[in-house]
Amino acid sequence: MSLPRKRSFLLRFIYTLALSLFAGTSAFADSVASYPEGWEEWPVVKESMTLPADTVLPPDTSLFIQEAVRSYAWINDGLGSPLTIRVNPEKLEQYKTHGPYTDGPTVVAVSEVQGIIWVTEHFSGLPMYGSYNRKGEDISSMHPTLEASFCQRCHDTYKDICINGTCAEPVLSPYE
Ligand code: HEC
Repeated sequence: MSLPRKRSFLLRFIYTLALSLFAGTSAFADSVASYPEGWEEWPVVKESMTLPADTVLPPDTSLFIQEAVRSYAWINDGLGSPLTIRVNPEKLEQYKTHGPYTDGPTVVAVSEVQGIIWVTEHFSGLPMYGSYNRKGEDISSMHPTLEASFCQRCHDTYKDICINGTCAEPVLSPYE
């Protein structure tokens, strides 16, 4: 990581801390994780889906999954979208064990239809979140469910499933 980038990263972290201390967390709508250049080349660890709005879940579906499905039912006008999960090649081994994570961008989930890039980055072991489009523009104010505080609420609440901020069980080739 180059020095200027590291500095801006630190500033962003301090800014976030200051905001959450003085303004309360809900007022903060910008992405906290940065846009990781080159994510398109990262290895795919899972092909998943955001489900259509009319999905009928089995009654015994966990609260966690119900919430995740409900939160993102608006994507692609309620029709659902393939979701591709790609991991920073330097962090493949860390991802496999849900951390502990070193600093820097960790993993992206890409909603293919609308080109929404969900980013999880780690700093001092803590996960941070962000939402971008394919041009790298911050889109966290586009929808309430794209705000970093919203991501955090789900990823940090279900600690038995989301360990150190990552939730998916990776399934594809890098581990075979
Ligand atoms: C209501 C719950 C919920 C919310 C809110 C949520 N996520 Fe997730 N997230 C999940 C689940 C469940 C998975 C696993 C998906 C799978 O395996 O198909 C996941 C997976 C991910 C992944 C893939 C890596 C991994 O294993 O965790 C990233 C990156 C991610 N989320 C980032 C975000 C960002 C950024 C936001 C906010 C814009 C967000 N998430 C909001 C539940 C949520």
